[in-house]
Amino acid sequence: MKHLLATDGLDAETATAVLDTADELKHTLLGREVKKLPTLRGRTVITLFYENSTRTRVSFEIAGKWMSADVVNVSAASSSVNKGESLRDTALTLAAAGADCVIIRHPASGAAHRLSGWLAAAGTAVVNAGDGTHEHPTQALLDAATLRERLGSLAGRRVAIVGDVLHSRVARSNIHLLSTLGVEVVLVAPPTLLPVGVETLPVTVSHDLDAELPAVDAVMMLRVQAERMTGGFFPSSREYSISYGLSERRLALLPEHAVVLHPGPMLRGMEIASAVADSPASAITEQVRNGVHVRMAVLYHLLASEGAAA
Ligand code: CP
Repeated sequence: MKHLLATDGLDAETATAVLDTADELKHTLLGREVKKLPTLRGRTVITLFYENSTRTRVSFEIAGKWMSADVVNVSAASSSVNKGESLRDTALTLAAAGADCVIIRHPASGAAHRLSGWLAAAGTAVVNAGDGTHEHPTQALLDAATLRERLGSLAGRRVAIVGDVLHSRVARSNIHLLSTLGVEVVLVAPPTLLPVGVETLPVTVSHDLDAELPAVDAVMMLRVQAERMTGGFFPSSREYSISYGLSERRLALLPEHAVVLHPGPMLRGMEIASAVADSPASAITEQVRNGVHVRMAVLYHLLASEGAAA
């Protein structure tokens, strides 16, 4: 693997190899007091974040450190980006300073792809940590790892992705990865929060959450991205919560084995009730924990395995 830019186009063999490595790393580190492997000693990993993040940035930093890489964090707010430096010049500066891998979060869809082009000559690997409304591939991988752990297998399972699909890079990455891994995906959302061209995606669409819940193995609740809702006809918070919120009543409609996921940050009381988020069905904390191992696995496949970029 040279870069990880999207799950659209990521083949099942590569995705499964990353998930298997994550699983192996998790078991290797389980119960260890000192979580440190020498695998990436001497490699430099830079996180470059133009948007806020808690889970993704922190777990990439921990992942790099647990593998003994030197990890440097750059946020747009405290860098020369604030003085007007372009993304291209910033990227070339980080490569010249010695980055083996740049992990980027950016509000523009396609930013990670552009970066990979600019850094090709330097041989620097690029990971997309979320670009606009486009993709968030490591989130989808950690979601798949969590589902595999809870359900035992993925092929033939049915997963509902619920809520603000229109603005969700998490939804897009999950649609592609889950369908590649043999999972049937149903999108449950109001018509105004579905993307144009939804009919071209490998999904079915429903507007009735109550009707879908009894027939799924997992339900993935999405954050309502109010900051991206400029213009358009969007439901009010109250309407949204009544029609698409995962309440305690709705939790009871799920099969007993079903798993509740949320990528975070959660809006408790809006898309998910607090009691549901904290219930035994919820794997939200496990998602965060698995995020570290999945990101370790991604760094391994990019920088240390036989297929890694030279
Ligand atoms: N799920 C996710 O991307 O969370 P952060 O925005 O906190 O990184």
